[in-house]
Amino acid sequence: MGFSKIARFPPYFLLLNFPLLNGSHPMNLKQTLETAIAHALNQVSGRSGCQALVTPAKNPQFGDYQANGVMALAKQLGRNPRELGAAVLAEFQRDPLAAQLADKLELAGPGFINIVLKPEFLSAALNALHGERLVATTSAPEHVVIDYSGINLAKEMHVGHLRSTIIGDAIARTLDYLGYAPIRQNHFGDWGTQFGMLIAYMQELPQGNNLSADLADLESFYRAAKRRFDADPAFADLARANVVKLQAGDADCLLLWRRFIDISIAHCQALYDKLGITLNSAHVKPESFYNDRLKSVLDALKVQGLLTESDGAQCVFLDEFKNKEGDITPVIVQKTDGGYLYATTDLAAIAYRCQELHAKRVLYVVDARQSLHLAQVFAVARKAGFATPECQLEHLSFGTMMGKDGKPFKTRSGDTIKLVDLCNESCERAYTLVKEKNPDLSDEQHRQIATTVGIAAVKYSDLSKNRNSDYLFDWDTMLSFEGNTAPYLLYAYARIRSIFRRAECDVDARYAITVAQVEEKALALKLLQFTETVETLASDCLPNQLCLYLYELAGHFMKFYEACPVLKAQDSARESRLGLCQLTARTLQQGLALLGIETLEQM
Ligand code: ARG
Repeated sequence: MGFSKIARFPPYFLLLNFPLLNGSHPMNLKQTLETAIAHALNQVSGRSGCQALVTPAKNPQFGDYQANGVMALAKQLGRNPRELGAAVLAEFQRDPLAAQLADKLELAGPGFINIVLKPEFLSAALNALHGERLVATTSAPEHVVIDYSGINLAKEMHVGHLRSTIIGDAIARTLDYLGYAPIRQNHFGDWGTQFGMLIAYMQELPQGNNLSADLADLESFYRAAKRRFDADPAFADLARANVVKLQAGDADCLLLWRRFIDISIAHCQALYDKLGITLNSAHVKPESFYNDRLKSVLDALKVQGLLTESDGAQCVFLDEFKNKEGDITPVIVQKTDGGYLYATTDLAAIAYRCQELHAKRVLYVVDARQSLHLAQVFAVARKAGFATPECQLEHLSFGTMMGKDGKPFKTRSGDTIKLVDLCNESCERAYTLVKEKNPDLSDEQHRQIATTVGIAAVKYSDLSKNRNSDYLFDWDTMLSFEGNTAPYLLYAYARIRSIFRRAECDVDARYAITVAQVEEKALALKLLQFTETVETLASDCLPNQLCLYLYELAGHFMKFYEACPVLKAQDSARESRLGLCQLTARTLQQGLALLGIETLEQM
């Protein structure tokens, strides 16, 4: 063993007892158990690829983890599950790893294996985290492309854009943290019919007009253009002609278009900054970027015999997209007038991402209403070879944000709610609450805290819901200091930090943790489960699971803090408890950072 190893994983004597902690570190407990018990299943059955199906125990009375894989295997083999379970357990007990990790292993019910972990192991594993990352970087940093936000630049950012932007950013941050270096792609809608209309409207503005001032309120500008378009057929013709000119590269049209886009992107960037979204100009890869590539998409489809003309349009018909009546819903890739479509652009984007960015995974954080669209372009891209076989295309779908009336969230008059207004209102409401909660702080401090809390609440209320369902937007719940909310977690973090301030203890000192009481053990186990939580997030992309984890972690902390005095404890108990406080704070902070949420020292 090298000298540097000794310095890395103190206390040294613990490592002699737990060589497991000396290997890949920090370890994924669940994965380690899964691998070891799956190995025992393979050995006993003489098969390969068995699954142990390890999960955290449903009821802590029975243990910390349970393995459920015996039952399924017994069924396959036609064996008695209890007997098979006993054999698997005996096999697992021969593994030196079992002795390091487990205090107790038990066969229960129809064939579960319950695992109770050793407090000494938990202590050693926590101590090994000091000065280290909380989660190891991936050993297989494949190229991941993540497509999110992708707002329509013709209009102002509104609440409908929130989910893709926030969920996508949390996933991108998580992939960053794990060392995947994800490639962010902001597939802005900056091309197509709406821009022909906006250009026509700009062409009517008086000479020397201040466009930036006009576009300060993008939404009204868009509506005014739309009114012209609907009312005046001559204007509508001009608008349509502009689209064709734009696609053909007409210099005047391009100039006006560019000015519009630049201003709109600046609006959008201001909001990204306000919300703490990691997207910037380097990630802009809008629809217009693919304009020059659309013709070759069509050519490739044609060469492969995938194109069919239908009512003058060029389409791809794939059998798997038959509707109830047995008719195929085609993917239209070129209109009768020669114009290309949203799907054509997405096909070009897939080719670019797979072939030029060498993506092994492309994640689309896109509204559930585009499910059919994406399923179709994925299928066509596979058929046509735009997507290499080893490249995974994943639609990370999400539902709609609903108002209390059960309809998509709108203003009272039925307009869409601008994102900037939503953020400002959240910060205003947080200001009132923060002032109430801690009247002793200065107004400047109240403002500062309220800004963090307000933005955190907007993000967290979204991230904490399973993205696959619609969710109810509700100011009172999202700003509550109780429950699975941003204020609750920020408060938990600030509270821990205040323990260190009051005690005048160094928050960064090395405190040796020795898990003793039940509440300490529960907290220790939860802390060690951060790794499996974050690694799972990177694969299934469900940020609500991380939110739930953080909420439960804070809950375990509160229970620990009630049962185990920290500052009043003596010597090693005090030190150990400070160590648990320190790690809880670190984990909360890191977990919130992955969600794009900043912590506060006090609130
Ligand atoms: N601009 C699209 C919209 O507003 C979202 C883009 C999603 N990404 C994609 N590659 N299609 O609906």
